[in-house]
Amino acid sequence: TAIQRADYSAPAWWVDSVDLCFDLDPIKTRVLNKMKLRRNTDLPVQALRLDGEELNLARVLVNGQGSTFKMDGNQLVLSNLPDECELEIFTTTCPSKNTKLMGLYVSNDSFFTQCEAEGFRRITYFLDRPDVMAMYSVTLRADKAKYPVLLSNGNLVDSGDLEGGRHFAKWVDPHKKPCYLFALVAGQLVCREQRITTRAGKDHTLQIYVRSGDLDKTEHAMNSLIHSVAWDEARFGLPLDLERFMIVATSDFNMGAMENKGLNIFNTKYVLASQATATDVDFSNIESVVGHEYFHNWTGNRITCRDWFQLSLKEGLTVFRDQEFSTDLAGTASARAVKRIEDVRVLRTNQFPEDAGPMAHPVRPDSYVEISNFYTVTIYEKGAEVVRMYQTLVGRAGFEKGITLYFERHDGNAVTCDDFAQAIADANPSSVLPSLLPQFKRWYSQAGTPRVSAQGVFDAASQTYTLTFSQHCAATPGQTEKLPFVIPVVLGLLDANGNDLPLQLEGQDEIHTGSQRLVLTEASQSFCFTGVNAEPVPSILRGLSAPVVLAFDYSDAQLLHLLAHDSDPFNRWEAGQRLAVNRATAAINDSSANPAALDAAYIDAMRAVLRHPTLDAAFKELVLTLPSEVYLAEQLTVVDPQRVHTVRQAMREQLAIELKADWETTYAATQETGAYTPDAVSSGKRALCGMALTHLCLAAVAEGNDQWPAIALQRFKNASNMTDRFNALSALVGSGHALAIPALEEFHALFKNEALVLDKWFALQVTAPDVGGNTLPNVKKLMKHSDFSLRNPNRARSVISSYCQANPAGFHRLDAAGYQFWSERVLELDAINPQVAARLARALDRWSKLAEPYRTNARQAIARVAAKSGLSKDTQEVVTRALAD
Ligand code: ARG
Ligand code: ZN
Repeated sequence: TAIQRADYSAPAWWVDSVDLCFDLDPIKTRVLNKMKLRRNTDLPVQALRLDGEELNLARVLVNGQGSTFKMDGNQLVLSNLPDECELEIFTTTCPSKNTKLMGLYVSNDSFFTQCEAEGFRRITYFLDRPDVMAMYSVTLRADKAKYPVLLSNGNLVDSGDLEGGRHFAKWVDPHKKPCYLFALVAGQLVCREQRITTRAGKDHTLQIYVRSGDLDKTEHAMNSLIHSVAWDEARFGLPLDLERFMIVATSDFNMGAMENKGLNIFNTKYVLASQATATDVDFSNIESVVGHEYFHNWTGNRITCRDWFQLSLKEGLTVFRDQEFSTDLAGTASARAVKRIEDVRVLRTNQFPEDAGPMAHPVRPDSYVEISNFYTVTIYEKGAEVVRMYQTLVGRAGFEKGITLYFERHDGNAVTCDDFAQAIADANPSSVLPSLLPQFKRWYSQAGTPRVSAQGVFDAASQTYTLTFSQHCAATPGQTEKLPFVIPVVLGLLDANGNDLPLQLEGQDEIHTGSQRLVLTEASQSFCFTGVNAEPVPSILRGLSAPVVLAFDYSDAQLLHLLAHDSDPFNRWEAGQRLAVNRATAAINDSSANPAALDAAYIDAMRAVLRHPTLDAAFKELVLTLPSEVYLAEQLTVVDPQRVHTVRQAMREQLAIELKADWETTYAATQETGAYTPDAVSSGKRALCGMALTHLCLAAVAEGNDQWPAIALQRFKNASNMTDRFNALSALVGSGHALAIPALEEFHALFKNEALVLDKWFALQVTAPDVGGNTLPNVKKLMKHSDFSLRNPNRARSVISSYCQANPAGFHRLDAAGYQFWSERVLELDAINPQVAARLARALDRWSKLAEPYRTNARQAIARVAAKSGLSKDTQEVVTRALAD
C-alpha cells in the first residue's frame, strides 16, 4: 500500500471555495461543507473522489438536489457531475473520542484541530491533498459560556448571540490555501495582544491565546513573534500579509507546532515560558519554533507543496530560515558559532543515524506508506543543510535573489523541490550553481550520509600542499549504488603559529585570505595549494559546509593545534570532539583497558579551554561536553551500549576529578547577579556554571565528600530561575547522591500545577544513571504516579521516550526487560495515538548494530510488535522497515 512519488497526477477536480459551518459539541459535532467544484479539464473526465476518515455521513447534495454516491474504502465517490457544481456534504464527528489528535479534537475542554498532513479528511470529505487550494469561509457555533472564544483562519467578519445560550463567529480567509492549513479553535482562552506597524507602514494585530492562568508566560513568545515579523521583512523582504496573526497553545499536541494560515497552533512547550518555570533552552526553543511557524507563512503557505514527497520544500527551507533567524538574533560571532554547533549536534546525533538505519530516505522520498512517518530529521534538518549549501554556493546575496525569484515565479502555487532549485540557479546565472544543478539535485534523490576522506601531502621542494578528497556513500534501503554528490568544502590552512595561510590554488591568480570554498564533484579529486613553505594543519569543512562525515587522519598534535588556534570556531570545537572520540573509541574497543584513560595532553587541553581568558562560556561548555553516547555508538561497527556508557561515564568522572580546581574556579566565575534574561551570553554562563556544578558533584561522590552536593541543594532551593534550579537538581540526580531524593520531592511539591515542569521532573528521573538496573522499575513506578497520563503526548514522551531514547544504559539491559517494556508501550500507545507510537517505535532503529545478546533480543521485540494484528499504518511501516534491515 505504499504511495509512489512517480505516480503523481494532477487532481481531477478543483475546489474553488469552501464554506464550512460547525456546530461544535464534544460528543457530536455537525459539519456542513459547501464547496464550489470545477472539473480539471486538462484531464479526461473522472469521478470525484473525496477522502474521509472516521466520519458519519448524513447527506450529500449536488446543486441542492439529493444525489447518488458510492463509497470506495474511505473515499466518497460521485460520478456524472456537471463540470461546475456546488456540492453540499453534511457529516458528524466525535471530537472527544479523537485520541489520535488529528482532525478536530478536545483538549482541556477546548476544541483544536491538526490537519497536516492528512487530518482534514477527519473533519469533512474533501480532496485532501496540498495541490488543491481554495478560498475558505468558516462559521463556528457553540455554547457561549463553555466556548467564549471562537477562532479560525483569516479575519473575523461577523459574530453574535444565538438562541439557547449559544453564539457564533464567522471567519473569512483572504488567501486561498490547501486544506492542511485549515484550523479552528474554540474554548475558554485569554489572549495577549500586540499591535505592530511594519516597515511597509501596515498595521497588524498579533495575538497569543492560552488558558487563563498562563497569560504571564506569553511575553517571550510575543517578543519572538515581533522579532520574526521584523526579521523576515529585513532579511528576505517578506512582510506579514495578514491583518491578524494568532498563536494558540494547547497541552495536547503530537508535534511542536503547526503553521495554519493566520492561526498557528502550538504545543504549550513552545509557547509558555517564565523565568520560574522555563529553562534557557526552553526560551531559545520558543524563539526558534515561533520563528519557524511564522516563516512558514511564506515558505509553506504562500508557496506550498505540490504533493507530500515535496515536504522538505517547505520544511527544509523553513528550518534553514529559523536557524538563520536565531543566528542573527544571537548577535556576536561567538554566539553565532554556538548556534551552528548546536544545530550540527542535532544533525549528527539524530539525522546521521537515521540516514544509516532502516528508515533512511532521501530528502525527497520516492515512496511512503504513512506520510506522518516522514516528518523526520532528514526532511527537516538535512533538508535545511541542503538549503544552506545553496547559500554557500551562490553567496548570501545570491541566495536572497534566488528567494525573490522563487516568489516571483511561484507565489500562490503548489510546487516541487525542482522548482525551488531552478529558481535559485536561475537567479544566479554567473555562479557555479547552474552548471552543477543536475548533480547537486542528487542531494534530493540519494539517501545516506556521504563520507569524505581527505589526505594532505606537503612537498617542501615545490612548496605545495596537496589535498586529495574522495567521497563515498554507503548503500541505503532500496539504493545500492550512489553517484558522487556536489560537496562544498570550506577550508583553511593553519601555519605553525595558528594563523590562516593565504590560499592560492596552483594555476590560479586568486588569493584567498582565511577560508576558501572548494567544490567536490568527483569520486576523487585533488587540490594543490602553492606558496606553502612548511606543512600546515588543514581545517577542513569549516562550519560543517556540507552534511557529510569527514575522515582525516589527524594526529593529536594537529588536533590540539586546531583546538587552540582555528579561526573557525566550529572547527575549533570539532577538534576537541575528535580528540574525545578517538580516546573514547579506543577505550571502548579495548575492553581490557581502564575505561578512564584520558591522557594528560587531553586533560591539559580541556583545562586550557576552561581557563581561557577570552572564550565565551557557552563555547567552553560545548567544548567540555563529551560526544554523546549516541554519537559514539555511530562511530562503532558493533555497539555494546553498556560499554559505551561505562567508558563515557568514566571519562566524565576523570574530567571531574582532575579538573576539580578549575571547575571550582569556573563555578565561582559564572555566578550571575543581575536580573534574569535568557540572552546568549547569560545563558552560556548558566550552562557552564551548571556543568561545573555537575562535575563537582560527580567528583564529590567519587571521593565520598558531601560538600558540593550540599552546595547544589542550597542552589536548588534558592535559585531565582528554572535554569539554575534544574541544573542544580540534575547535578544532584546525575551524581547519584542521596540528597537528590528530597530535592526531587521538593521540586514536585513546588511545581505540581505546572504541567511542563512536571514533564521535566519525570524525564530527569528516567534519564538518571542506571544503578544496578534500577531505572526500569523506576519508570514503571512513575507510570503509576497520579500525574502520569499515557494520553498526553508530552507526558508519555517525558517518561517512555526519555527512557527508551535518552538512557541507553538503562534501556539496553542484558535481560531484555527494556525491550519488553518498549514493545508493550508501543502497542499500548498504538491503540491510542499512532503518531506517538510510531515515533517511540523508532527507538530500536539501530538494533542491527548492537552486540549480542542485545541484537537478537531487540529484533525479537520488534518482531513481537510487527506480529500484532490491527497495527496502525504508522507503526506497521516503522517496524516492517526495521525488520528488513
Ligand atoms: N508543519 C509543522 C511544522 O513543521 C509540523 C506538522 C506536523 N505534522 C504531523 N503530521 N503531525 O511546523
Ligand atoms: Zn515546519
